[in-house]
Amino acid sequence: MGSRVVVFGSSPAVAAEILRTHDRELSARYAPKATPIEESDLKKYSLLWSTDCQNQWKSFRVLWKSELFSNKALDLQAEIRAKKVEEMVKFLSKKEGEIVQIGDIVFTAVYNTLGNICFSKDLIDFDDEKMGSDWRGIMWRFMECATTPIVADFFPFLDLLKLDPLGQKRKSKKCMDKMFQVWGDVIKQRRNLNDHNDVKHGDFLDFMMANGFLDVQILYMLLEILPAGAGTLIATTEWAMAELLKNKEAMAKLHQELEGEIINTNFIKESQLSKLPYLNACIKETLRLHPPIAFLPHCANSTCEVMNYTIPKNSLVLVNLWAMGHDPMIWDDPFSFRPERFLNSNLEFKGQDFEFLPFGGGRRMCPGLPYAHRQLQLILASLIYYFKWYLPNDGDPWQIDMDEKYAVPLQMKKPLLLLPSRRC
Ligand code: HEM
Repeated sequence: MGSRVVVFGSSPAVAAEILRTHDRELSARYAPKATPIEESDLKKYSLLWSTDCQNQWKSFRVLWKSELFSNKALDLQAEIRAKKVEEMVKFLSKKEGEIVQIGDIVFTAVYNTLGNICFSKDLIDFDDEKMGSDWRGIMWRFMECATTPIVADFFPFLDLLKLDPLGQKRKSKKCMDKMFQVWGDVIKQRRNLNDHNDVKHGDFLDFMMANGFLDVQILYMLLEILPAGAGTLIATTEWAMAELLKNKEAMAKLHQELEGEIINTNFIKESQLSKLPYLNACIKETLRLHPPIAFLPHCANSTCEVMNYTIPKNSLVLVNLWAMGHDPMIWDDPFSFRPERFLNSNLEFKGQDFEFLPFGGGRRMCPGLPYAHRQLQLILASLIYYFKWYLPNDGDPWQIDMDEKYAVPLQMKKPLLLLPSRRC
Protein backbone atom coordinates (compact mmCIF):
# COMPACT_ATOMS: atom_id res chain seq x y z
CA MET A 1 0.00 0.00 0.00
CA GLY A 2 1.75 3.17 -1.20
CA SER A 3 5.44 2.64 -0.59
CA ARG A 4 4.87 0.42 2.42
CA VAL A 5 4.69 -3.35 2.37
CA VAL A 6 1.55 -4.54 4.14
CA VAL A 7 1.06 -8.25 4.76
CA PHE A 8 -2.29 -9.71 5.79
CA GLY A 9 -2.46 -13.07 7.53
CA SER A 10 -5.96 -14.50 7.32
CA SER A 11 -5.71 -18.16 8.23
CA PRO A 12 -4.92 -19.99 11.48
CA ALA A 13 -1.77 -21.46 9.89
CA VAL A 14 -0.39 -18.01 9.00
CA ALA A 15 -1.45 -16.60 12.37
CA ALA A 16 0.55 -19.37 14.08
CA GLU A 17 3.60 -18.51 11.94
CA ILE A 18 3.31 -14.81 12.78
CA LEU A 19 2.45 -15.07 16.47
CA ARG A 20 4.35 -18.20 17.46
CA THR A 21 7.13 -19.21 15.06
CA HIS A 22 8.19 -15.63 14.16
CA ASP A 23 6.89 -13.85 17.25
CA ARG A 24 10.34 -12.37 17.95
CA GLU A 25 10.74 -10.79 14.50
CA LEU A 26 7.10 -9.78 14.01
CA SER A 27 6.13 -8.34 17.36
CA ALA A 28 7.09 -4.72 16.75
CA ARG A 29 4.38 -2.08 16.46
CA TYR A 30 3.97 0.76 14.06
CA ALA A 31 2.32 3.83 15.59
CA PRO A 32 -0.12 5.45 13.13
CA LYS A 33 0.99 8.89 11.97
CA ALA A 34 -2.20 10.52 13.22
CA THR A 35 -1.38 9.73 16.83
CA PRO A 36 -0.79 13.00 18.67
CA ILE A 37 2.04 11.48 20.70
CA GLU A 38 5.59 12.26 19.60
CA GLU A 39 7.63 9.25 18.53
CA SER A 40 10.23 9.89 21.24
CA ASP A 41 7.44 9.93 23.88
CA LEU A 42 5.93 6.70 22.56
CA LYS A 43 9.27 5.00 23.13
CA LYS A 44 9.50 6.32 26.67
CA TYR A 45 5.93 5.98 27.88
CA SER A 46 3.81 3.63 25.80
CA LEU A 47 3.07 -0.05 26.23
CA LEU A 48 0.52 -0.33 23.44
CA TRP A 49 2.50 1.56 20.81
CA SER A 50 5.98 0.74 22.02
CA THR A 51 7.76 0.10 18.73
CA ASP A 52 9.89 -2.73 20.06
CA CYS A 53 9.77 -5.27 22.86
CA GLN A 54 12.92 -4.12 24.63
CA ASN A 55 13.50 -3.27 28.29
CA GLN A 56 11.08 -0.37 28.58
CA TRP A 57 8.20 -2.40 27.11
CA LYS A 58 9.13 -5.40 29.29
CA SER A 59 9.07 -3.34 32.48
CA PHE A 60 5.67 -1.83 31.57
CA ARG A 61 4.22 -5.29 30.88
CA VAL A 62 5.49 -6.56 34.24
CA LEU A 63 4.03 -3.53 35.98
CA TRP A 64 0.61 -3.87 34.29
CA LYS A 65 0.47 -7.60 34.88
CA SER A 66 1.43 -7.47 38.54
CA GLU A 67 -0.31 -4.28 39.69
CA LEU A 68 -3.46 -4.33 37.55
CA PHE A 69 -4.16 -7.79 36.21
CA SER A 70 -2.61 -10.41 38.51
CA ASN A 71 -5.15 -12.73 40.19
CA LYS A 72 -4.49 -10.96 43.48
CA ALA A 73 -5.08 -7.52 41.97
CA LEU A 74 -8.21 -8.72 40.16
CA ASP A 75 -9.64 -10.20 43.37
CA LEU A 76 -8.99 -6.94 45.21
CA GLN A 77 -10.78 -4.99 42.45
CA ALA A 78 -13.83 -7.32 42.45
CA GLU A 79 -15.67 -5.16 44.96
CA ILE A 80 -15.22 -2.05 42.79
CA ARG A 81 -16.50 -3.82 39.67
CA ALA A 82 -19.50 -5.17 41.60
CA LYS A 83 -20.31 -1.73 43.06
CA LYS A 84 -20.16 0.07 39.72
CA VAL A 85 -22.31 -2.56 38.01
CA GLU A 86 -24.75 -2.35 40.93
CA GLU A 87 -25.00 1.41 40.31
CA MET A 88 -25.66 0.70 36.64
CA VAL A 89 -28.48 -1.72 37.52
CA LYS A 90 -30.03 0.82 39.91
CA PHE A 91 -29.81 3.54 37.29
CA LEU A 92 -31.38 1.35 34.61
CA SER A 93 -34.14 0.34 37.02
CA LYS A 94 -35.12 4.01 37.21
CA LYS A 95 -35.24 4.12 33.42
CA GLU A 96 -37.95 1.46 33.10
CA GLY A 97 -39.85 2.08 29.85
CA GLU A 98 -37.54 4.91 28.71
CA ILE A 99 -35.18 4.73 25.76
CA VAL A 100 -31.53 4.37 26.75
CA GLN A 101 -28.39 4.31 24.67
CA ILE A 102 -26.98 1.16 26.19
CA GLY A 103 -23.40 1.93 25.13
CA ASP A 104 -23.41 5.19 27.12
CA ILE A 105 -24.70 3.49 30.27
CA VAL A 106 -22.17 0.67 30.07
CA PHE A 107 -19.49 3.25 29.32
CA THR A 108 -20.22 5.10 32.58
CA ALA A 109 -20.04 1.85 34.58
CA VAL A 110 -16.80 0.69 32.94
CA TYR A 111 -15.13 4.10 32.97
CA ASN A 112 -15.94 4.66 36.63
CA THR A 113 -14.69 1.18 37.50
CA LEU A 114 -11.36 1.88 35.83
CA GLY A 115 -11.34 5.38 37.39
CA ASN A 116 -11.73 3.85 40.85
CA ILE A 117 -9.09 1.21 40.25
CA CYS A 118 -6.65 3.86 39.01
CA PHE A 119 -7.38 6.74 41.36
CA SER A 120 -10.33 5.91 43.63
CA LYS A 121 -12.64 8.33 41.87
CA ASP A 122 -15.76 8.27 39.74
CA LEU A 123 -15.18 10.15 36.52
CA ILE A 124 -18.79 10.43 35.39
CA ASP A 125 -22.10 10.79 37.20
CA PHE A 126 -24.75 8.29 35.99
CA ASP A 127 -27.46 10.93 36.31
CA ASP A 128 -25.54 13.43 34.21
CA GLU A 129 -26.28 11.75 30.88
CA LYS A 130 -24.83 14.60 28.86
CA MET A 131 -21.53 14.28 30.69
CA GLY A 132 -21.46 10.52 29.99
CA SER A 133 -22.15 10.94 26.33
CA ASP A 134 -19.64 13.85 26.02
CA TRP A 135 -16.86 11.80 27.56
CA ARG A 136 -17.75 8.79 25.49
CA GLY A 137 -17.58 11.06 22.43
CA ILE A 138 -14.14 12.36 23.42
CA MET A 139 -12.84 8.86 23.92
CA TRP A 140 -14.25 7.49 20.63
CA ARG A 141 -12.99 10.53 18.72
CA PHE A 142 -9.56 10.15 20.22
CA MET A 143 -9.30 6.47 19.31
CA GLU A 144 -10.83 6.89 15.89
CA CYS A 145 -8.74 9.89 14.84
CA ALA A 146 -5.51 8.55 16.32
CA THR A 147 -5.73 5.11 14.69
CA THR A 148 -7.26 5.70 11.25
CA PRO A 149 -4.43 5.63 8.69
CA ILE A 150 -3.55 8.85 6.88
CA VAL A 151 -1.68 9.21 3.60
CA ALA A 152 1.71 9.58 5.38
CA ASP A 153 1.25 6.07 6.78
CA PHE A 154 1.64 4.68 3.28
CA PHE A 155 4.00 7.31 1.85
CA PRO A 156 6.31 7.90 4.84
CA PHE A 157 8.28 10.65 3.02
CA LEU A 158 5.14 12.83 3.22
CA ASP A 159 5.48 12.83 6.98
CA LEU A 160 8.29 15.37 6.58
CA LEU A 161 5.66 17.83 5.31
CA LYS A 162 3.64 17.26 8.51
CA LEU A 163 0.41 17.21 6.51
CA ASP A 164 -2.83 16.56 8.39
CA PRO A 165 -5.38 16.91 5.57
CA LEU A 166 -8.43 15.74 7.52
CA GLY A 167 -7.29 17.28 10.77
CA GLN A 168 -7.12 13.86 12.46
CA LYS A 169 -3.97 14.61 14.40
CA ARG A 170 -5.31 17.98 15.53
CA LYS A 171 -8.61 16.43 16.63
CA SER A 172 -7.01 13.54 18.49
CA LYS A 173 -4.60 15.96 20.21
CA LYS A 174 -7.55 18.07 21.35
CA CYS A 175 -9.23 15.00 22.87
CA MET A 176 -5.99 13.86 24.50
CA ASP A 177 -5.41 17.32 26.01
CA LYS A 178 -8.91 17.28 27.47
CA MET A 179 -8.39 13.88 29.09
CA PHE A 180 -4.94 14.89 30.38
CA GLN A 181 -6.38 18.05 31.89
CA VAL A 182 -8.94 16.13 33.98
CA TRP A 183 -6.62 13.32 35.00
CA GLY A 184 -3.77 15.81 35.56
CA ASP A 185 -5.92 17.64 38.12
CA VAL A 186 -6.60 14.38 39.94
CA ILE A 187 -2.86 13.63 40.06
CA LYS A 188 -2.09 17.16 41.30
CA GLN A 189 -4.68 16.92 44.07
CA ARG A 190 -3.29 13.58 45.17
CA ARG A 191 0.27 14.91 45.27
CA ASN A 192 -0.91 17.83 47.43
CA LEU A 193 -2.76 15.47 49.74
CA ASN A 194 0.25 13.20 50.07
CA ASP A 195 2.45 16.22 50.90
CA HIS A 196 0.21 17.14 53.80
CA ASN A 197 -0.79 13.82 55.34
CA ASP A 198 -0.18 10.15 55.16
CA VAL A 199 -3.59 8.91 53.94
CA LYS A 200 -3.21 5.99 51.54
CA HIS A 201 -5.86 5.01 48.99
CA GLY A 202 -4.15 1.77 47.97
CA ASP A 203 -4.91 2.38 44.31
CA PHE A 204 -2.80 2.37 41.16
CA LEU A 205 -2.01 6.09 41.53
CA ASP A 206 -0.59 5.59 45.04
CA PHE A 207 1.52 2.76 43.71
CA MET A 208 2.84 4.83 40.80
CA MET A 209 3.65 7.78 43.02
CA ALA A 210 5.33 5.66 45.69
CA ASN A 211 7.53 4.22 42.95
CA GLY A 212 8.66 7.60 41.70
CA PHE A 213 6.69 7.80 38.43
CA LEU A 214 6.37 11.31 37.02
CA ASP A 215 3.00 12.88 36.17
CA VAL A 216 3.66 12.56 32.46
CA GLN A 217 4.39 8.84 32.79
CA ILE A 218 1.19 8.31 34.76
CA LEU A 219 -0.87 10.28 32.23
CA TYR A 220 0.35 8.23 29.27
CA MET A 221 -0.35 5.04 31.17
CA LEU A 222 -3.91 6.20 31.92
CA LEU A 223 -4.33 6.95 28.24
CA GLU A 224 -3.84 3.23 27.54
CA ILE A 225 -5.87 1.94 30.46
CA LEU A 226 -8.99 4.10 30.23
CA PRO A 227 -9.86 4.52 26.52
CA ALA A 228 -8.33 1.19 25.40
CA GLY A 229 -10.00 -0.70 28.23
CA ALA A 230 -13.37 1.03 28.17
CA GLY A 231 -13.69 1.15 24.36
CA THR A 232 -13.22 -2.57 23.78
CA LEU A 233 -15.56 -3.50 26.64
CA ILE A 234 -18.39 -1.20 25.55
CA ALA A 235 -18.17 -2.28 21.92
CA THR A 236 -18.33 -5.96 22.94
CA THR A 237 -21.28 -5.45 25.28
CA GLU A 238 -23.24 -3.48 22.69
CA TRP A 239 -22.70 -6.19 20.05
CA ALA A 240 -23.61 -8.94 22.52
CA MET A 241 -26.88 -7.20 23.40
CA ALA A 242 -27.75 -6.69 19.73
CA GLU A 243 -27.04 -10.36 18.92
CA LEU A 244 -29.01 -11.63 21.92
CA LEU A 245 -32.00 -9.46 21.05
CA LYS A 246 -31.97 -10.81 17.52
CA ASN A 247 -31.60 -14.38 18.73
CA LYS A 248 -34.46 -14.92 21.17
CA GLU A 249 -33.56 -18.55 21.80
CA ALA A 250 -30.02 -17.66 22.86
CA MET A 251 -31.39 -14.86 25.07
CA ALA A 252 -33.82 -17.29 26.75
CA LYS A 253 -31.11 -19.92 27.31
CA LEU A 254 -28.79 -17.36 28.83
CA HIS A 255 -31.47 -16.05 31.14
CA GLN A 256 -32.38 -19.58 32.19
CA GLU A 257 -28.76 -20.37 33.02
CA LEU A 258 -28.46 -17.19 35.10
CA GLU A 259 -31.68 -17.89 36.97
CA GLY A 260 -30.45 -21.37 37.83
CA GLU A 261 -27.20 -20.08 39.29
CA ILE A 262 -28.04 -16.70 40.82
CA ILE A 263 -30.61 -17.18 43.54
CA ASN A 264 -32.22 -14.44 45.57
CA THR A 265 -29.59 -11.85 45.29
CA ASN A 266 -29.94 -8.13 44.89
CA PHE A 267 -26.67 -7.83 43.08
CA ILE A 268 -24.52 -10.33 41.29
CA LYS A 269 -21.03 -11.16 42.52
CA GLU A 270 -18.21 -12.35 40.28
CA SER A 271 -17.83 -15.48 42.40
CA GLN A 272 -21.32 -16.57 41.23
CA LEU A 273 -20.27 -16.43 37.60
CA SER A 274 -17.38 -18.85 37.45
CA LYS A 275 -19.46 -21.79 36.18
CA LEU A 276 -21.75 -20.37 33.53
CA PRO A 277 -20.90 -22.10 30.25
CA TYR A 278 -23.64 -20.45 28.19
CA LEU A 279 -22.67 -16.94 29.35
CA ASN A 280 -19.07 -17.65 28.36
CA ALA A 281 -20.17 -19.11 25.05
CA CYS A 282 -22.18 -15.93 24.32
CA ILE A 283 -19.12 -13.77 25.06
CA LYS A 284 -16.90 -15.92 22.85
CA GLU A 285 -19.42 -15.95 20.02
CA THR A 286 -19.70 -12.15 20.19
CA LEU A 287 -15.93 -11.77 20.05
CA ARG A 288 -15.75 -14.19 17.09
CA LEU A 289 -18.28 -12.21 15.06
CA HIS A 290 -17.27 -8.74 16.24
CA PRO A 291 -13.62 -8.68 17.33
CA PRO A 292 -13.05 -5.15 18.73
CA ILE A 293 -9.57 -5.16 17.19
CA ALA A 294 -10.26 -6.50 13.71
CA PHE A 295 -6.59 -6.64 12.65
CA LEU A 296 -3.74 -7.41 15.04
CA PRO A 297 -1.37 -4.52 14.32
CA HIS A 298 2.14 -5.99 14.16
CA CYS A 299 5.27 -4.84 12.36
CA ALA A 300 8.47 -6.61 11.27
CA ASN A 301 11.51 -5.55 13.27
CA SER A 302 13.78 -7.58 11.00
CA THR A 303 13.45 -9.31 7.64
CA CYS A 304 12.19 -12.88 7.89
CA GLU A 305 10.70 -15.72 5.86
CA VAL A 306 7.12 -16.77 6.51
CA MET A 307 5.76 -19.73 4.52
CA ASN A 308 8.28 -19.06 1.75
CA TYR A 309 7.43 -15.36 1.51
CA THR A 310 10.01 -12.77 2.44
CA ILE A 311 8.66 -10.20 4.87
CA PRO A 312 10.98 -7.17 4.68
CA LYS A 313 11.93 -5.23 7.79
CA ASN A 314 9.35 -2.51 8.66
CA SER A 315 6.48 -4.25 6.82
CA LEU A 316 3.13 -3.94 8.51
CA VAL A 317 1.92 -7.42 9.42
CA LEU A 318 -1.79 -7.56 10.13
CA VAL A 319 -3.49 -10.72 11.35
CA ASN A 320 -7.04 -10.43 10.07
CA LEU A 321 -9.24 -11.61 12.95
CA TRP A 322 -12.44 -10.49 11.26
CA ALA A 323 -11.77 -12.66 8.19
CA MET A 324 -10.86 -15.69 10.30
CA GLY A 325 -13.96 -15.24 12.46
CA HIS A 326 -16.17 -15.34 9.36
CA ASP A 327 -14.34 -18.01 7.39
CA PRO A 328 -16.65 -20.90 6.31
CA MET A 329 -13.59 -23.17 6.16
CA ILE A 330 -13.22 -22.71 9.93
CA TRP A 331 -16.79 -22.21 11.19
CA ASP A 332 -20.14 -23.76 10.26
CA ASP A 333 -22.64 -21.11 9.24
CA PRO A 334 -20.10 -18.40 10.15
CA PHE A 335 -22.38 -15.35 9.95
CA SER A 336 -24.92 -16.72 12.46
CA PHE A 337 -24.78 -16.09 16.19
CA ARG A 338 -24.66 -19.60 17.63
CA PRO A 339 -23.07 -19.69 21.10
CA GLU A 340 -23.65 -23.47 21.17
CA ARG A 341 -20.63 -23.93 18.90
CA PHE A 342 -18.42 -23.10 21.91
CA LEU A 343 -20.23 -25.35 24.39
CA ASN A 344 -18.62 -28.67 23.65
CA SER A 345 -15.39 -27.25 22.42
CA ASN A 346 -12.04 -26.58 24.03
CA LEU A 347 -11.53 -23.37 22.08
CA GLU A 348 -10.22 -20.60 24.31
CA PHE A 349 -9.15 -17.05 23.62
CA LYS A 350 -5.81 -17.38 25.38
CA GLY A 351 -3.68 -17.06 22.26
CA GLN A 352 -3.10 -20.79 21.70
CA ASP A 353 -6.02 -21.50 19.36
CA PHE A 354 -5.04 -19.68 16.21
CA GLU A 355 -8.51 -19.72 14.65
CA PHE A 356 -9.87 -17.65 17.53
CA LEU A 357 -7.65 -14.79 18.68
CA PRO A 358 -9.81 -11.86 19.85
CA PHE A 359 -7.12 -10.91 22.40
CA GLY A 360 -4.22 -11.57 20.03
CA GLY A 361 -1.36 -13.92 20.74
CA GLY A 362 2.38 -14.07 21.29
CA ARG A 363 4.25 -11.51 23.33
CA ARG A 364 1.99 -8.57 22.37
CA MET A 365 -1.16 -10.38 23.46
CA CYS A 366 -3.67 -8.24 25.37
CA PRO A 367 -2.56 -7.91 29.01
CA GLY A 368 -6.11 -6.84 29.94
CA LEU A 369 -7.67 -10.23 29.04
CA PRO A 370 -8.33 -11.51 32.59
CA TYR A 371 -9.79 -8.16 33.56
CA ALA A 372 -11.91 -7.90 30.43
CA HIS A 373 -13.28 -11.42 30.88
CA ARG A 374 -14.45 -10.78 34.45
CA GLN A 375 -15.91 -7.39 33.57
CA LEU A 376 -17.78 -8.67 30.49
CA GLN A 377 -19.24 -11.61 32.42
CA LEU A 378 -20.50 -9.36 35.20
CA ILE A 379 -22.00 -6.69 32.95
CA LEU A 380 -23.71 -9.04 30.54
CA ALA A 381 -25.03 -11.29 33.33
CA SER A 382 -26.48 -8.25 35.14
CA LEU A 383 -28.09 -6.78 32.02
CA ILE A 384 -29.83 -10.05 31.18
CA TYR A 385 -30.64 -11.31 34.68
CA TYR A 386 -32.33 -8.13 35.89
CA PHE A 387 -33.94 -6.78 32.72
CA LYS A 388 -36.04 -7.65 29.73
CA TRP A 389 -35.10 -5.51 26.74
CA TYR A 390 -37.28 -4.02 24.01
CA LEU A 391 -36.64 -1.91 20.97
CA PRO A 392 -38.19 1.56 20.69
CA ASN A 393 -41.67 1.59 19.08
CA ASP A 394 -41.96 -2.18 19.45
CA GLY A 395 -39.32 -2.54 16.74
CA ASP A 396 -38.46 -5.89 15.21
CA PRO A 397 -35.04 -7.05 16.49
CA TRP A 398 -34.23 -8.40 13.03
CA GLN A 399 -34.28 -4.78 11.86
CA ILE A 400 -31.43 -3.78 14.20
CA ASP A 401 -28.80 -2.16 12.04
CA MET A 402 -25.77 -4.42 12.42
CA ASP A 403 -23.52 -2.34 10.17
CA GLU A 404 -20.04 -1.87 11.50
CA LYS A 405 -18.16 1.34 11.80
CA TYR A 406 -14.60 0.50 10.96
CA ALA A 407 -12.60 2.02 13.73
CA VAL A 408 -10.60 0.83 16.71
CA PRO A 409 -12.51 -0.68 18.37
CA LEU A 410 -14.86 -2.03 15.73
CA GLN A 411 -18.24 -0.70 16.81
CA MET A 412 -21.89 -0.53 15.82
CA LYS A 413 -22.39 2.17 13.22
CA LYS A 414 -25.65 3.25 14.85
CA PRO A 415 -25.67 3.18 18.65
CA LEU A 416 -28.08 0.61 20.07
CA LEU A 417 -31.19 2.18 21.60
CA LEU A 418 -33.21 0.00 24.00
CA LEU A 419 -35.96 0.08 26.61
CA PRO A 420 -35.27 -1.79 29.84
CA SER A 421 -37.98 -3.48 31.87
CA ARG A 422 -37.03 -4.84 35.28
CA ARG A 423 -37.58 -8.62 35.65
CA CYS A 424 -36.96 -9.07 39.37
C1 HEM B 1 -13.06 -7.18 25.05
C2 HEM B 1 -11.97 -6.67 25.57
C3 HEM B 1 -10.63 -6.59 24.89
C4 HEM B 1 -10.21 -7.12 23.70
C5 HEM B 1 -11.00 -7.98 22.72
C6 HEM B 1 -8.82 -6.73 23.53
C7 HEM B 1 -8.04 -7.09 22.44
C8 HEM B 1 -6.71 -6.74 22.29
C9 HEM B 1 -5.91 -7.10 21.15
C10 HEM B 1 -6.37 -7.91 19.96
C11 HEM B 1 -4.66 -6.58 21.35
C12 HEM B 1 -3.45 -6.69 20.37
C13 HEM B 1 -2.75 -8.02 20.57
C14 HEM B 1 -1.64 -8.26 19.57
O1 HEM B 1 -1.07 -7.31 19.04
O2 HEM B 1 -1.32 -9.45 19.30
C15 HEM B 1 -4.68 -5.89 22.62
C16 HEM B 1 -3.60 -5.24 23.15
C17 HEM B 1 -3.64 -4.49 24.30
N1 HEM B 1 -4.74 -4.36 25.16
FE1 HEM B 1 -6.56 -5.25 24.95
N2 HEM B 1 -8.44 -5.99 24.60
C18 HEM B 1 -9.50 -5.88 25.46
C19 HEM B 1 -9.52 -5.24 26.69
C20 HEM B 1 -8.46 -4.55 27.23
C21 HEM B 1 -8.49 -3.89 28.51
C22 HEM B 1 -9.68 -3.92 29.47
C23 HEM B 1 -7.27 -3.27 28.66
C24 HEM B 1 -6.76 -2.44 29.77
C25 HEM B 1 -7.46 -1.93 30.76
C26 HEM B 1 -6.48 -3.56 27.46
C27 HEM B 1 -5.21 -3.10 27.22
C28 HEM B 1 -4.41 -3.50 26.16
C29 HEM B 1 -3.02 -3.05 25.96
C30 HEM B 1 -2.24 -2.10 26.84
C31 HEM B 1 -2.55 -3.70 24.82
C32 HEM B 1 -1.15 -3.58 24.18
C33 HEM B 1 -0.22 -4.66 24.69
C34 HEM B 1 1.16 -4.61 24.03
O3 HEM B 1 1.31 -4.06 22.96
O4 HEM B 1 2.11 -5.15 24.62
N3 HEM B 1 -7.24 -4.35 26.63
N4 HEM B 1 -5.94 -5.99 23.17
